Amino acid sequence: MASNRFCPPTLLSFLLICVTLWSSGVSAKSAQRPNIVLILTDDLDIVIGGLSPLNKAKKLIGEEGISFTNAFVASPLCCPSRASILTGKYPHNHHVINNTLEGNCSSKAWQKSEEANAFPALLRAHAGYQTFFAGKYLNQYGHSEAGGVEHVPPGWSHWIGLEKNSKYYNYTLSVNGKAQKHGADYSKDYLTDVLANMSLDFLQYKSSFQPFFMMVSTPAPHSPWTAAPQYQNSFNATKAPRDPNFNVHGKDKHWLIRQAKTPMSNSSVQFLDDAFRKRWRTLLSVDDLVEKIVKTLEVRGELDNTYIFFTSDNGYHTGQFSLPMDKRQLYEFDIRVPLMVRGPNIKPNQTSQMLVANVDLGPTILDIAGYNVNKTQMDGTSFLPVMEGKMNSSSWRTDILVEYEGEGNNVSDPACPLLGPGVSECFPDCVCEDSYNNTYACVRTVAASANLQYCEFDDNQVFVEVYNMTADPYQLTNIADSIGQDFLEKMNHRLMMLQSCSGQSCRTPGVYDPRYKFDPRQMFTGRSWRFNRLRQTMK
Ligand SMILES: *[C@@H]1O[C@H](CO)[C@@H](O)[C@H](O)[C@H]1NC(C)=O
Ligand SMILES: *[C@@H]1O[C@H](CO)[C@@H](O)[C@H](O)[C@H]1NC(C)=O
Ligand SMILES: *[C@@H]1O[C@H](CO)[C@@H](O)[C@H](O)[C@H]1NC(C)=O
Ligand SMILES: *[C@@H]1O[C@H](CO)[C@@H](O)[C@H](O)[C@H]1NC(C)=O
Ligand SMILES: *[C@@H]1O[C@H](CO)[C@@H](O)[C@H](O)[C@H]1NC(C)=O
Ligand SMILES: *[C@@H]1O[C@H](CO)[C@@H](O)[C@H](O)[C@H]1NC(C)=O
Ligand SMILES: *[C@@H]1O[C@H](CO)[C@@H](O)[C@H](O)[C@H]1NC(C)=O
Ligand SMILES: *[C@@H]1O[C@H](CO)[C@@H](O)[C@H](O)[C@H]1NC(C)=O
Ligand SMILES: *[C@@H]1O[C@H](CO)[C@@H](O)[C@H](O)[C@H]1NC(C)=O
Ligand SMILES: *[C@@H]1O[C@H](CO)[C@@H](O)[C@H](O)[C@H]1NC(C)=O
Ligand SMILES: *[C@@H]1O[C@H](CO)[C@@H](O)[C@H](O)[C@H]1NC(C)=O
Ligand SMILES: *[C@@H]1O[C@H](CO)[C@@H](O)[C@H](O)[C@H]1NC(C)=O
Repeated sequence: MASNRFCPPTLLSFLLICVTLWSSGVSAKSAQRPNIVLILTDDLDIVIGGLSPLNKAKKLIGEEGISFTNAFVASPLCCPSRASILTGKYPHNHHVINNTLEGNCSSKAWQKSEEANAFPALLRAHAGYQTFFAGKYLNQYGHSEAGGVEHVPPGWSHWIGLEKNSKYYNYTLSVNGKAQKHGADYSKDYLTDVLANMSLDFLQYKSSFQPFFMMVSTPAPHSPWTAAPQYQNSFNATKAPRDPNFNVHGKDKHWLIRQAKTPMSNSSVQFLDDAFRKRWRTLLSVDDLVEKIVKTLEVRGELDNTYIFFTSDNGYHTGQFSLPMDKRQLYEFDIRVPLMVRGPNIKPNQTSQMLVANVDLGPTILDIAGYNVNKTQMDGTSFLPVMEGKMNSSSWRTDILVEYEGEGNNVSDPACPLLGPGVSECFPDCVCEDSYNNTYACVRTVAASANLQYCEFDDNQVFVEVYNMTADPYQLTNIADSIGQDFLEKMNHRLMMLQSCSGQSCRTPGVYDPRYKFDPRQMFTGRSWRFNRLRQTMK
């Protein structure tokens, strides 16, 4: 067997890879398993045009494979969403509820109870895969109270983790547990390019005796939106789209939307248009990264045996319902994400309307690797049969759960005392993007007979929002007051059931599924705020 003769001594950061070239006991069978690449972007929407700058990714992944038009995240915020991707679980089961250590973002408790069972750990320990990570992990990764950058999550044989949250320059990477500091020289430090280069190095020096899983997680297009020098003037004339829900008053919506000022100030509009252009500029480097990875796999003769997934941790809004910019909302622009996949047995140029969610990525990847997902506690389901054309829509799931815990401590923003305590992410004109009572859960239904969203808030109004996505794709009209008690009760019951689901019970048929059966035993298991409030007032 070839030892480390492919290892140039200068590639210090890849010493570990070379050592594992020796790893024995790898059967010929596992060597034939397909390779898997997951490219995860940060804050990349699909609803407000996020895929527009990504022409190479659309051509090299989308046109060569399948694009999902109904792909959602279980929570529209970085850390909870990333935890859902890694664990295949809804937030109520992985317990990562916000972006702080106290909310379990990369906390010791997470490391102990969830990280060790995340899908990369199963791939590595039980499916014979070598695993490579490069980029942004969980927002608090590298925190001194969570083991610092010395902590290498157990799923990864090759680890390049960005310390903390998104950056483009002046950051620290954990290279297999050792801090590597970077400055602000484009040719050496621009993070999207560093991730691309390190990924190509991995492809070159990895073991050829094991299949690989590679996850490349770009901070782009998250703030601070620093473009590569050659792209700094791109999209000069681009503006955020003026869709029907842009800069309008969401007066029938929950409190946080009602506090937004409509119309927005001109300075807010200028700021969001500028941010919109800057986001797109950062994506041009992501597009280059995708091209480099695909071309390298092609040159190496590995492309035909490699699945490539491209997606995001949450969507984004710029001006919708007069909120300047962020995620964290229940609306389509924040919960819907791009998802394109190419790979063996996936026919080119397919579009699928089947409902998929980020909790399905782990189960799908394990399925590809030949690991029986039923042995895990995951809430999601493998969509490999969908990609291979082996699943018809009448047998597929019809709803998913979205859960979000609003961020905001019980102190007033000193600049905005009138809003009271509990708000966060406030703009200079005191329009806030989040608050502790922006805590909600939704059922998102996509069935032959219905395309709906039902949401309940844990606020002092127990606010309910309902949208008929067929009639109202921009979610301009909340129909909670007109849709009828029968519908509200059925959806409330389904929501409670999903909020308390685990594993197989998360995959039971939804209200609009012909296979749905009402089960009164499930009535009292959920944490439905609306239901509990109604019970309290009845007493
Ligand atoms: C953090 O995770 C641990 C382990 O899952 C759990 O016991 C704890 O309740 C979580 N904390 C929060 C704030 O949810
Ligand atoms: C990086 O850090 C240097 C030194 O502190 C500073 O001058 C520079 O502005 C920073 N650049 C970026 C893009 O953060
Ligand atoms: C990436 O690699 C290319 C080709 O070797 C090199 O020109 C470029 O400077 C590298 N970029 C970074 C940020 O390391
Ligand atoms: C874009 O704007 C910048 C700064 O205003 C300017 O320098 C550049 O020439 C413009 N580029 C194009 C392609 O219009
Ligand atoms: C804001 O912009 C609009 C449209 O460009 C313009 O009509 C209006 O006068 C501006 N308002 C202020 C206060 O500058
Ligand atoms: C996919 O469709 C595009 C646009 O119709 C076409 O140009 C391209 O050749 C197709 N790709 C494949 C692999 O069939
Ligand atoms: C997993 O469980 C489901 C539902 O019980 C069953 O239909 C499926 O065949 C099982 N898959 C495997 C690979 O055991
Ligand atoms: C879809 O699958 C179900 C169950 O496997 C089957 O009963 C039904 O006939 C199929 N429908 C179509 C249109 O193929
Ligand atoms: C995050 O969640 C934890 C646990 O509930 C809470 O203590 C903390 O205040 C939350 N952080 C924010 C910013 O809301
Ligand atoms: C804020 O929360 C803390 C901890 O829950 C509590 O001790 C304190 O009284 C609260 N302060 C206010 C102003 O509500
Ligand atoms: C939400 O919290 C804010 C800030 O504390 C408060 O002003 C508002 O009344 C609350 N709204 C609801 C519906 O609970
Ligand atoms: C949603 O709107 C469509 C198109 O207007 C309509 O056919 C359908 O009945 C509506 N669904 C509900 C649940 O109101």
